Amino acid sequence: MIKYLGSKRRLLDEITAVSCAVPGASTAVDLFSGTARVGHALKHAGFAVQANDYAAYAHVLATCYVQADAERWTHEAEALLAELQAVSPAPGYVTRTFCEEARYFTPENGARIDAMREAITARALPPELEAIALTSLLEAADRVDSTTGVQMAYLKQWAPRAHKPLTLRLPALLPRAAGGRSAAHHLDALKAAAALTGHIAYLDPPYNQHSYLGNYHVWETIVRWDTPEAYGVARKRRDTRARASIFNSRPRHADAFRRVVETIDARVLIVSFSNEGWLSRDTLLEMLAPRGEVLVLDHDYKRYVGAQIGIHNRRGERVGAVSHLRNTESLYVAGSAVDVDAVRRTKQ
Ligand SMILES: C[S@@+](CC[C@H](N)C(=O)[O-])C[C@H]1O[C@@H](n2cnc3c(N)ncnc32)[C@H](O)[C@@H]1O
Repeated sequence: MIKYLGSKRRLLDEITAVSCAVPGASTAVDLFSGTARVGHALKHAGFAVQANDYAAYAHVLATCYVQADAERWTHEAEALLAELQAVSPAPGYVTRTFCEEARYFTPENGARIDAMREAITARALPPELEAIALTSLLEAADRVDSTTGVQMAYLKQWAPRAHKPLTLRLPALLPRAAGGRSAAHHLDALKAAAALTGHIAYLDPPYNQHSYLGNYHVWETIVRWDTPEAYGVARKRRDTRARASIFNSRPRHADAFRRVVETIDARVLIVSFSNEGWLSRDTLLEMLAPRGEVLVLDHDYKRYVGAQIGIHNRRGERVGAVSHLRNTESLYVAGSAVDVDAVRRTKQ
């Protein structure tokens, strides 16, 4: 899966274990799905999952990893990816914008992305098959990018991986879960909180001002394929600002998250939050208290590579050090239906 700030790769086992400790639970909502890896893990554990995210690329990832069932699509997807891999490179928008005006990929790989993306559009595929092809393309592009993991800037020297030829792989599709059919949604979280229900709701909102649409604008453009006007060194989409999320606004974040917590119809809420985020532990505990008992599971991590490297000026000179190098990610599990002893056992 793609490199993604805030991805819950390291918490998957625990989120799954907590979800499985809710007696009788077979359905789950992932309201801010991002890479879709949490929804994928829950589907793998047998849950029917409703995944949601407001970014178009995240909706595609969730359509592939959560909604599409392996038994329906594997055969056709393998044949399609083989055809796409054989398409002749042809430079276009990606090559011009992200390889010549910027340096996210080598022009050779840019021309492959352009040609494959055009070929996907030309085939007018059913949505789930198209999402599988686009996911494969994003992941292939991610494996040969020349960034530190966000698309706000690119490396001055090509990353060694950037010189490898872009190669499509079949994403890890899952069979339909015992809990039933899963689905991907493309809604603002406040709307999704009112519309989607599950025995469990997993909430992993942005926790500061950094916009996911800004950090991953290249994926948004490859998925939307709308040749947007780009600006600045990073060649970001102009509409990134107009589509700003309420969860990236300091004055509005707490109220928006409180509304989600109050609205969503679920027996148990599992909330991911970092000690670097805008909501303090006391605030989160107060918001979640009406839901029943709240259990907090803490995880201590090194901060991401950008923070390890330090703060640099435009000439690449180090001008400062970051204030701290570790952060704590916490899972807040709220709801009287949780088998707390079973959750505690997962920690041992
Ligand atoms: C911390 S990330 C989720 C990461 C995800 N759990 C994973 O493991 O990959 C937060 C997600 O919230 C999404 N998001 C931000 N604002 C949103 C909004 N208003 N409605 C729905 N999704 C939103 C972002 O696109 C981003 O993917």
